[in-house]
Amino acid sequence: METAVRVRFVNPQRTYAQLRAELDAAYHVVMSNGEFIDRSQLRQFETNLAAFVGTRYAVGLNSGYDALQLSLRATGITAGDEVIVPAHTFVATCSAVVNVGATPILVDVGDDFNIDLDALTRAIGPRTKAVIPVHLSGFMADMPAVMEIAARHGLVVIEDACQSIGASIHGRGAGSWGNTGCWSFYPFKMLGGYGDGGAVTTNDAELAAWIRRMRYNGEDRTTGEYHGHGFTCLLDNLQAAFLDVKLKHLPTWIRRRQAIAATYRQHLADLPLMLPHYERVGFDHVYQNYTVRTSHGNAFSNYLKGQGVEVLTQFRKPYYRHAALMLEDRGYPVTEAISREVCSLPMYPELEDAEIQYVIDTVKSFFASR
Ligand SMILES: Cc1ncc(COP(=O)(O)O)c(C=O)c1O
Repeated sequence: METAVRVRFVNPQRTYAQLRAELDAAYHVVMSNGEFIDRSQLRQFETNLAAFVGTRYAVGLNSGYDALQLSLRATGITAGDEVIVPAHTFVATCSAVVNVGATPILVDVGDDFNIDLDALTRAIGPRTKAVIPVHLSGFMADMPAVMEIAARHGLVVIEDACQSIGASIHGRGAGSWGNTGCWSFYPFKMLGGYGDGGAVTTNDAELAAWIRRMRYNGEDRTTGEYHGHGFTCLLDNLQAAFLDVKLKHLPTWIRRRQAIAATYRQHLADLPLMLPHYERVGFDHVYQNYTVRTSHGNAFSNYLKGQGVEVLTQFRKPYYRHAALMLEDRGYPVTEAISREVCSLPMYPELEDAEIQYVIDTVKSFFASR
């Protein structure tokens, strides 16, 4: 018999229930005016997103993947170039590099799940052109250090900020440090649409203009001139309208995520678990995911599932070990350990206090039974 779910891992129905009037109104405007592609809602959202992130420009796209691949193309990364990427990330970070014809150089991560600075420095060679630091689970990679290393070696920096909207270091937002910042609005992201979506943020007017043209088949929409063989990958107007509604609520949602994280920490700190709290002065964690680590691996995650707590165990098999991707496994010990040990607990603003308590009690009961 299947276990009844007591606490869901995500709950978009609750978000809709909360925002129904605003989302329905946005839908009504777009549908009544027949504005679907490259219209005012897209521009409005781009303006608000750029202001939120702290950049001059934002360009709405189909997906986080497109944000990455267009950032690579816009900064001139091509065949023969090497791009450094973390071994522990969502596969799209690496696939974007491969699909522009460049060579990904994988490096291990640290205990905060983000790129290891020593490994990054060691991986830089004569063909290295760029690095993609990923801000995983709502916590930023050490960007002051990454920017310093990149400046020393003349590298392009493309931030994969897909999991970290609203995160910051000393008040400077994720996605505002590198040449570009890449965003995903996949439905279960902290700022999630109702389908795929993404964006690039940048302070560079030329990069923004290049990506804006390439998302629309290479066309400059003012002059009609084609500037290259481009793509069709705009953020839909309807999605932009929905995302603009949700963006206004994001600061409140982030505070709620941080409060839930504090509650988890208060009650789970004495257990043999590694919790995602890293004492880095000035780093503001926004908890896209609350990922704990335990040497019990699947025994722990299966126990929680068995008690009706939905959890995520990304990624038990690192992407570089999937044969079809033809990537070299050079041995990444921290990534390997993380892959065996991770378990993300439910984390979203609409979690009710009784549900949080149930998750805590269930985690405690696992260890009580050992
Ligand atoms: C770290 C990271 N990079 C890239 C992506 C790709 O984003 P998308 O699914 O919108 O293409 C995601 C989202 O799943 C992600 O989490």
